[in-house]
Amino acid sequence: MPVYCITGTNRGLGLEFVKQLAQSSTNTIIATTHPRATDLADLHAVASPSTHILTCDVSSIPSIQSFIQEATHALNGGHLQKIDFLLNNAGVNLAPQQTSLSLGPDELHAQFAVNVLGPAKLVELLLAAGLLSPSVRILNMSSSLGSMQFSSSLRPRWCAGYAISKAALNMLTVHQSEDVRRELPGAVVVAMAPGLCKTRMGGEEAVLEPRESVGGMLRVLGGLGSEDTGLFYQWTGEKVPW
Ligand SMILES: NC(=O)c1ccc[n+]([C@@H]2O[C@H](COP(=O)([O-])OP(=O)(O)OC[C@H]3O[C@@H](n4cnc5c(N)ncnc54)[C@H](OP(=O)(O)O)[C@@H]3O)[C@@H](O)[C@H]2O)c1
Repeated sequence: MPVYCITGTNRGLGLEFVKQLAQSSTNTIIATTHPRATDLADLHAVASPSTHILTCDVSSIPSIQSFIQEATHALNGGHLQKIDFLLNNAGVNLAPQQTSLSLGPDELHAQFAVNVLGPAKLVELLLAAGLLSPSVRILNMSSSLGSMQFSSSLRPRWCAGYAISKAALNMLTVHQSEDVRRELPGAVVVAMAPGLCKTRMGGEEAVLEPRESVGGMLRVLGGLGSEDTGLFYQWTGEKVPW
């Protein structure tokens, strides 16, 4: 009975993860949504009987703390189940028109709060609560834009604040891959680029269906071995240069 925990599941790639994982009755799913998300009809439509829909604003430490209390309750049906796969999927791309010469402090802080501090605190606090399994797989949803090599080849360069926050998430992954292992020697932490997907964030230019990207990411996740920790993968399983 693997347990998956996914953030940001009311739409986009998070919703597609729940949809695909819910097809197997052996999967337990903790699907989180921001407390502001009121229209959960799509999520309820794809959820399985073993899906727990909980709220968590990943940019807020008190919200993460109360989510962890609820998750502990949801997973404690006699004996405590632990999370085998943590998918730090929730993310924001604010003010994509801003360049390195016009970064807005509010937008940059907000992107760091969701895209970097969220995955950091969620891992830290789930670990402290004893909710991560000994061989947990943690996927930090990054972007090709967070790759120095990929961004260097882009003309023109775009989404400066978002790209900077995803590069920081990549560095968080490198640190977590060692820090989490000190507590859980079997843990594997990776960064993942989902490709340009047809979601609200991916927009009009996107080429990939969420179904294809998420199917690929789940295959990569399922095949991760101990030696993969701290690496950056494309949804296809190819390694992405930092
Ligand atoms: N789509 C792409 O082409 C693409 C490419 C590269 C990387 N990515 C990454 O893939 C991930 C998913 O993207 P997507 O395309 O599915 O984007 P999306 O359609 O915009 O969905 C983003 C999800 O994150 C949630 N979210 C935002 N801030 C949150 C917070 N503070 N707490 C909890 N949930 C929050 C949103 O909730 P609300 O509905 O309440 O806002 C929504 O469910 C993101 O990390 C993104 O950076 C996407």
